[in-house]
Amino acid sequence: MCSVVGYSGPRLCRQMILEGLSRLEYRGYDSSGFACINATSKLASVKTQGGIQQLNLKIATQEMGVSISSSGENNLDGTLAIGHTRWSTHGVSTDTNAHPHFDCHKSIAVVHNGIIENFVLLKEKLQLAGHHFVSQTDTEVVAHLFEDEIKTKSLEKAVLSVVTKLQGAYALLIISEKYPDYLIAVRKSSPLCLGVADKEIFVASDVTAFTDKTDQVVFLPDESFVLISGTDYHVYNYFGERIYPPVQKNTCIWLSEGKSGYEHYMLKEIYEQKRVIIDTVNFLRGNTAAVMQQLNISPETVQDIQNIHFIGCGTSWHAGLIGEYFMQEIAQVATQSFLASEFRYKKFFSYPRTLTIIISQSGETADSLEALRLLSASKQPTVALANVASSSMVREADGFLLTQAGQEIAVASTKAFTSQIAALYIFAHWVAHSKGLITNKAIARAHEELFVAGEILENSIERYKFDIVARIAPYYAKYKNFIFLGRHISFPFALEAALKLKEIAYIFVDCYPAGELKHGPLALIDAQTPVVLFSCLDEVIYKKLYGNAQEVKARSGHLIVFAFEHQKDLIALADTVFIFPKVNPLLAPLVMTGLVQFFVYQIALLLERPIDRPRNLAKSVTVE
Ligand code: M6R
Repeated sequence: MCSVVGYSGPRLCRQMILEGLSRLEYRGYDSSGFACINATSKLASVKTQGGIQQLNLKIATQEMGVSISSSGENNLDGTLAIGHTRWSTHGVSTDTNAHPHFDCHKSIAVVHNGIIENFVLLKEKLQLAGHHFVSQTDTEVVAHLFEDEIKTKSLEKAVLSVVTKLQGAYALLIISEKYPDYLIAVRKSSPLCLGVADKEIFVASDVTAFTDKTDQVVFLPDESFVLISGTDYHVYNYFGERIYPPVQKNTCIWLSEGKSGYEHYMLKEIYEQKRVIIDTVNFLRGNTAAVMQQLNISPETVQDIQNIHFIGCGTSWHAGLIGEYFMQEIAQVATQSFLASEFRYKKFFSYPRTLTIIISQSGETADSLEALRLLSASKQPTVALANVASSSMVREADGFLLTQAGQEIAVASTKAFTSQIAALYIFAHWVAHSKGLITNKAIARAHEELFVAGEILENSIERYKFDIVARIAPYYAKYKNFIFLGRHISFPFALEAALKLKEIAYIFVDCYPAGELKHGPLALIDAQTPVVLFSCLDEVIYKKLYGNAQEVKARSGHLIVFAFEHQKDLIALADTVFIFPKVNPLLAPLVMTGLVQFFVYQIALLLERPIDRPRNLAKSVTVE
């Protein structure tokens, strides 16, 4: 959830590190810091609560002030440096808890993404041995451990000795005055990669930090470390053996387009969804052979599949829950979705003839990645459905399917969700086709249905935009609690809509399958708690939902309904209603997606929330 960036080369690199960090701020943004070995071979550093903007301000203030010594000892730039943005796990966000962290003599600096699970024990031991700690973080133990180890051991042996003592997940960058020409990078579970250019080396949590500098990337294998000096780098495994991970060409280059005039990335990304659906369809139908190769599942395996499992977290889990209906209805395959954080700690059964699809925008989410590793270890076939081509999941799964959302910057997922739904819809048709259940014509029809859904998604925002901004959002922004209801395929969609309201507006939402109302939540219905009900196009389910809406109204509940144009009875019951044209019933969630996101966005805007970066959250959750 933090990001690390490092540099070794001939150039003064502070600016490059800060630029790299600001591209990775989506991973965490509550504090930041920088450390380098400067021209006098001294360790110089700066850190602060707040993101890169605050760090730049602090640097500017320091440089204007008297704190810069005339000897140049404190000069805050160098050709070997590390930087960090933090998303707090241990210790609140303060200047002291910001990274880098130091040893007792402030001659070693460490930045870290991950969690050192046994830090309490290590800290106690180190304190007993006389080490002085200043922060509440888990990371500081690494600096003190390293301090002890490099007193007597070679650099390589010192790193090996430190990693044998650490439990947990970590991507670490370390610099020290004792080895002023060396940048050390260590990886266990948390992502870390090198950017190898002609005369310089970058190291970062994500290639985005250096995509404008080089397209040559080395993804460090799990449980490895690298000693970088100038442009030389030696990679070792945890047995101390030299290893040679391949240098790969990074083809996934997303250059930031900025907000393109929108007030927030989230709004821009909401409006990109129609385009994302078109891109997904065109990509999948235009590159079928290549995509099939990437999926790496033979037609025979597909024909033989008995179960499909989806695994994901948050929005990606919701996409899987919706995908269940696609797989069952279209491909007639028994399908189940699992929350990665639950799956990995449940008793593990290895299912025969089962394909597991790990769904993830980032491809780095710790729980999903660990679930994937668990499956790989027991030789279960896996596919990563991910948006980031260079991600760990894409590299580690047996096959992959790339969604075509482009870079999603806002923490709240919008277009990534849409692209997952579109890809799953097409995937279900492919499976059905391989099993001889549908013809090519049906696949072509599915593409058309998705285009139509994209059109409706966007048009419905346009249709209600002014009303939402002027009247509807101001009215609902004053409520403290909401209940969201769905049924059948609209239930996972209600979960996703509820997550958006909680995440960006900080409003409490309880979300239920509507059929569960009378088993408890009906007691919550009153005029102070609006009920948002997402309709379905299946006639049987619609009738049930209409019954649930009547139950709400009969208890003086306030009803907001997302309904389809022929559902007159339900529409008549609603206090506020959003109406959509009829589509294929399986695509009902997709057409409602844009409008509900826009509605929630407007409420968050009125409540003056930091929409693109909600409190306590980060875009990529690379810790458990
Ligand atoms: O990158 P992933 O799709 O694996 O991320 C999973 C969740 O952390 C993510 O979907 C999260 O729930 C979103 N911020 C919700 O908008």
